[in-house]
Amino acid sequence: MNEKNKKEILSRGAFATSIGAVIATLGSAIGLGNIWKFPFIAGENGGAAFLIVYIASTILVGLPVMISEIALGRKARANAITTMQKLNPKKGQPWWLIGALGALAAFTIMAFYTEVAGWVYAYIFKSLNTSGLSTNPQVTEKAFTDLITSPWQSLIWQWVVLGIVSVIIIKGVSKGIERVTKFMIPSLLVMVVIIAIRSLTLDPVATSKGLSFLFRPDFSKLGWDVVLIAMGLAFFKLSVGMGTMITYGSYWQNDQNIPYRTATVMLSDLAVSLLAGLAIFPAVFAFGFEPASGASLMFITIPAVFASMPFGQIFMVLFFILASFAATGAMISLIEVPVAYINENFNISRLKATIATNLTLALIGSLAALSNSVLADFKLFDLTMFDLFDYVSSNLMLPIGGLFIAIFVGWIWGKKNIEAALNNAGTLNNHVIVNVFTFIVRFITPVLIIIILLGGLGVF
Ligand code: PFF
Repeated sequence: MNEKNKKEILSRGAFATSIGAVIATLGSAIGLGNIWKFPFIAGENGGAAFLIVYIASTILVGLPVMISEIALGRKARANAITTMQKLNPKKGQPWWLIGALGALAAFTIMAFYTEVAGWVYAYIFKSLNTSGLSTNPQVTEKAFTDLITSPWQSLIWQWVVLGIVSVIIIKGVSKGIERVTKFMIPSLLVMVVIIAIRSLTLDPVATSKGLSFLFRPDFSKLGWDVVLIAMGLAFFKLSVGMGTMITYGSYWQNDQNIPYRTATVMLSDLAVSLLAGLAIFPAVFAFGFEPASGASLMFITIPAVFASMPFGQIFMVLFFILASFAATGAMISLIEVPVAYINENFNISRLKATIATNLTLALIGSLAALSNSVLADFKLFDLTMFDLFDYVSSNLMLPIGGLFIAIFVGWIWGKKNIEAALNNAGTLNNHVIVNVFTFIVRFITPVLIIIILLGGLGVF
């Protein structure tokens, strides 16, 4: 790469180090999905049977889309929408719509994600002053219900989250995103390991019950609906299908080995999900609780579990700090999608782009934040706005975005460009990987997405 190119890349904003790029990308993947979604969804939908489908979706659908996105972004060095415009050889075809759908998905996900993140932040304080802590689940349930049914508390915590995320984004790609994730992700890994060890060493009978809840295969649970949930989770987990990885890829360095680095991110993310499950379920059973679902598990059962444990308060503070780190790394990547677009396309500063994005988010997000109070009866398709945003983003928007990204890379961008992107213009000797990837992204990924989407939506 010549000096002029290098300067251009740096002046636009990029991760300063390769390890920083990988950690920031991992920071996007690891999130509330690992802690709030994965453990329970896996336990409830067939344990190991679900895991097999989830891992298969991750390898055959999630990872190929991730490789595609990073490769596109790094090649174009632009935000998601401009990347699709720049790299599309068929100017008449509107492939930029993938980027636009992605920006829409970013808002949809952020709307509910910031709300859950707000609860997590609130729980750091509740665990510090013990107000959320009691061995009696009725008491912890009341603490949680009081929080989510109070319109002001819900909104204010959501704004706190948006404020913190804005500060990081405004600082820029390297000084903000890279620096913060470089600190948060390693600390998060240490904390999840500590809590998992504590949980697994509480009581042998409970440990085996916890392991069996998470891993016992129950193939009778596997219907099309569950397969769609597994694929949706694979998209959500790896932050793919909506241009986040295109945007982050545009900050990667030219000499990074994309297939190898993305596979590392995928495996680390899976490890964190499994560790989160091991941190939660053995402890839940050790104190005689039932594993509840979703938000109740995290904010009602878990505080009661920690309250029952010697030195539980320390573990509870650790747990919610860990969750807040996970949530924050993911949210900055979500917000970066529209911010990078507004910043580059309209020549508006990052500061102003971030403010505009977050004001819009505060508005849309309030629909989710108020879903448990004033808007509790406001439903579409029988779902509150919170649940609707969650379902539509993971199970429709991300798979549809991923489908078109795979088709674009496999069939329009084509083998030559794929090869040059994955072997770093001939400097890596990875023919086999390139060939396997090209085959999967052309024939397997799109076909699987279509079949699972149609099956999950009840077409057959
Ligand atoms: N991967 C994040 C999680 O598992 O919590 C969620 C997410 C982040 C989804 C960024 C999509 C995205 F673009």
